[in-house]
Amino acid sequence: MAAPQPGGVRIELRGIVKRFGPVQVLHGVDLAFEPGRVYGLLGENGAGKSTLMKILAGYEVPSEGGIDVNGRAVVFDGPRAAEAEGIVLIHQEFNLAEDLTVAQNIFLGHEKRRGPLGLWLDDVAMRAVARRVLDDVGLSKVDPDTRVRELIVAERQLVEIAKALSRQARVLVMDEPTATLTPGETGRLFELVARLKAEGVTIVFISHKLDEVERITEQVVVMRDGRLVAQQPTATLTRSQMANLMVGRELADLYPPRSTVPADAPVLLSVQDLSVPGWAQGVSFEVRAGEVFGFAGLVGAGRTELFEGLLGLRERSATAVEVNGRAVLPRSPREAADAGLTYLSEDRKGRGLHVHFGLRENLTLMALDRHAQPWLKPASERDALAQAVREFGIRCGSLDVAAGSLSGGNQQKLALAKVLHPGPRVLVLDEPTRGVDIGAKREIYALIRRLADEGRAVVVVSSELMELIGLCHRVAVMRAGRLQATLAAAQLNEQELIAHATGSH
Ligand SMILES: Nc1ncnc2c1ncn2[C@@H]1O[C@H](COP(=O)(O)OP(=O)(O)OP(=O)(O)O)[C@@H](O)[C@H]1O
Ligand SMILES: [Mg+2]
Repeated sequence: MAAPQPGGVRIELRGIVKRFGPVQVLHGVDLAFEPGRVYGLLGENGAGKSTLMKILAGYEVPSEGGIDVNGRAVVFDGPRAAEAEGIVLIHQEFNLAEDLTVAQNIFLGHEKRRGPLGLWLDDVAMRAVARRVLDDVGLSKVDPDTRVRELIVAERQLVEIAKALSRQARVLVMDEPTATLTPGETGRLFELVARLKAEGVTIVFISHKLDEVERITEQVVVMRDGRLVAQQPTATLTRSQMANLMVGRELADLYPPRSTVPADAPVLLSVQDLSVPGWAQGVSFEVRAGEVFGFAGLVGAGRTELFEGLLGLRERSATAVEVNGRAVLPRSPREAADAGLTYLSEDRKGRGLHVHFGLRENLTLMALDRHAQPWLKPASERDALAQAVREFGIRCGSLDVAAGSLSGGNQQKLALAKVLHPGPRVLVLDEPTRGVDIGAKREIYALIRRLADEGRAVVVVSSELMELIGLCHRVAVMRAGRLQATLAAAQLNEQELIAHATGSH
């Protein structure tokens, strides 16, 4: 690979149009990126942000229009060609090979070689670079020889970033890099952004977290329906103005009012002494009908693993688990769904959706018997899908596309529709609003409130403290695999939650 030129790179996108079959998703976008600046790219789910950046980084070919690098027209026949110009994209959906090691992933397609004719792989050099970039992103505890499948989601995200760093980007596009990170990890990433900027690197930061956009970007670029609708200095916009530009209308309050849960409401989920070896120790809690019950904690506190254990996805033990008044320790998500409990996985691509399957198959997978009388009725499944697409506002070109072709946020909405489809009494939602835009977020909050008000028990695992504070009747805080505290709505505030999560209480 030709080494990217030193110094800054000026990028100009000219009249970019993109069609997927009959569906046009970009309608002639003109946009310039100056060297050494940090841009925020905003827009609703499906607005075309990822597609535009995939074109810039050589993963997609534009249907019309072109790209100039330092005033020279370029055509990218793949990501390698874009990387040769110093343009590197960190994907929204992970792009790592699970069975390879961290170091192998970092150098995939860019292996360092040694010896005459470069016959041998230079493992020593690769491991050294891997070590350095892993340290840079705060993964000093991760061994470059670890297989990616053994890493948790946040670590995978950081490996993606480390991989991009090893490519010596001059233009670094980060597509929702913080969706899976804790505030501490995010802070570290932002320090890195500041350092790269000082070195003249252009950063494009795609995020639905407007506080972060405010914190690190200088220019905000807003897209709506495949078009550019605004480009302004970040300092001239408030967060609510950014949100309004994205959705094209005024947004009211984010969180719906909290209803009260009667003291005698039946307990729908009771967990006693649940342990998941290596992750969680003796966790007990109860959730009542009508209640939204939150789980806060740092990454690695064991929240996701606790619920994966509860669902039979990991080895676990418990003295007693009751769902809807019946004793049950499910061996699989399917068995749990039969008992009345469904689970939205934080790992949308791995455990949540089958990206190669259609929307319909994804929606109805856990409740096939509802559409089989006695054999499968495609018409009934299709109606259910059409209804879900309407109800959840899933944006798709047609009902027949594969789940993987939906934008990130729309995949999240499909995953939510899927866990609601079996009609559960108890829902466990792990990071329910990850990657969704602010308008959709508000709708998901309203949905969670409605599900609870209808008499369900809803567990919300979230890294967004404001979300837990705005939504939950009670919040349990986990630290190092143990339940540290359970706080009632009146006691909920950020400082209190952080204090329990970090053990500084
Ligand atoms: N390979 C594909 N085939 C068909 N349609 C696609 C494909 N990739 C993207 N699209 C469609 O293009 C539109 C824009 O998607 P894109 O992923 O760029 O949105 P986004 O702005 O990144 O949204 P999000 O915030 O949800 O990530 C969506 O309607 C999506 O379904
Ligand atoms: Mg996207």
